[in-house]
Amino acid sequence: MTATAQKATFTIRRARTSDVRHIRDLVAPLAEERVLVAKETVAYYEGLQEFRIAEDADGRVIGCGALHVMWEDLAEVRTLAAHPDWKGRGVGHALLDQLLADAAEIGVSRVFCLTFEVDFFKRHGFTVMESQSAVDPEVYSELLRSHDEGVAEFLDLARVKPNTLGNTRMIRDVRA
Ligand SMILES: CC(C)(COP(=O)(O)OP(=O)(O)OC[C@H]1O[C@@H](n2cnc3c(N)ncnc32)[C@H](O)[C@@H]1OP(=O)(O)O)[C@@H](O)C(=O)NCCC(=O)NCCS
Repeated sequence: MTATAQKATFTIRRARTSDVRHIRDLVAPLAEERVLVAKETVAYYEGLQEFRIAEDADGRVIGCGALHVMWEDLAEVRTLAAHPDWKGRGVGHALLDQLLADAAEIGVSRVFCLTFEVDFFKRHGFTVMESQSAVDPEVYSELLRSHDEGVAEFLDLARVKPNTLGNTRMIRDVRA
């Protein structure tokens, strides 16, 4: 996929192992601002196949985003980030579109996100979650068995409250 914005071209592709250091560089300042949660490097390698990368015409990594499957019908968009030099030029839009297409392709029907970027996600069809009703009690208790921080954030567990403070929980149907 190629997108053109302000005469600048970028492409969206699957992540490679060599991208991990660049993903970390994109996340680090945002983690410092508590906008995203930084992970151990090994976690980025382990989750590499979830990632899509935006790269500029010179092959520089200018954005990233991941889709993490939580349940048969449910996944989370996480670690969506655009390089500061590229903000407002469609990079986040292109990455999110690709992640939503990935979700639909693998059979996920609903995509969750936890974010400060409420307007951005609203413009991409997400709505603010009113309650925990996105999963039934049986699935909720199964999800409680997960060791994943993002799942704990989705469940709004007390131990991850410092990560989720001020964030908005949003969801969208990808079949619509
Ligand atoms: C959220 C984030 C990824 C958006 O990235 P971005 O590349 O700036 O986003 P876009 O350029 O696609 O869209 C931003 C705005 O630019 C405008 N825009 C400019 N050119 C555009 C284009 N070619 N295509 C689409 N939108 C464009 C849009 O109007 C859009 O407005 P909106 O935010 O009100 O919808 C980025 O702000 C970011 O890194 N935030 C910090 C991390 C974060 O909070 N991630 C989300 C939780 S995982």
